[in-house]
Amino acid sequence: MPTTLIFATNNAHKVEEIQAVIGDAIEVISLSAVGIDIDIPEPHATLEENAREKSQTIYRLTGLPCFSEDTGLEVDALNGEPGVKSARYAGEHRDFSANIEKVLAGLEGKENRGARFRTVISIIWDGIEHQFEGICEGEILRERRGEKGFGYDPIFMADGETRSFAEMTTQEKTAISHRTKAASELVKFLKNNTNNGIHA
Ligand code: IMP
Repeated sequence: MPTTLIFATNNAHKVEEIQAVIGDAIEVISLSAVGIDIDIPEPHATLEENAREKSQTIYRLTGLPCFSEDTGLEVDALNGEPGVKSARYAGEHRDFSANIEKVLAGLEGKENRGARFRTVISIIWDGIEHQFEGICEGEILRERRGEKGFGYDPIFMADGETRSFAEMTTQEKTAISHRTKAASELVKFLKNNTNNGIHA
């Protein structure tokens, strides 16, 4: 029965978003908090394979319960790109701003701006891998809006919303996000597999 779960990331935004869903029954800790300083490769063609690679890598290093997530922005008019390449869409330097520019440039003159964020969470639990998916449908705005969040947040507006993710507070984004949906499935799994009072 763990009281802590290692999250194979060093993205503080992601840790904050997932901790908000899991609640305080389990403490989510990042790689730097357990002294692991590696850049885990994401060499595969799918979010599912990359998520598995990350969780298995950290499990091999620590032997402790751990999970990872991989997220992609899938834009319909770009044939699902940037997708699995979201972090490095404009190059290896992982520049959020350049990535956004590339998406906006690719959509110039296109009517269909439909897109979704898709998250895959992979957890290694008792040595066995389990995966959970979360999807948030929306559209790509014509220009950046807002300063909050990270990554593609300034150009993504979820269905039914009037503001971009970057114009929302963490709480507002968390209420509807892809990551929350995947994390909610993770919480259900943890609830069914532990007896430490997690509330789904
Ligand atoms: P990864 O899951 O860290 O590999 O993220 C892939 C890319 O998608 C990175 O460029 C992230 O900044 C971006 N990304 C992941 N999650 C989100 C999100 O919730 N909002 C905006 N961009 C995101």
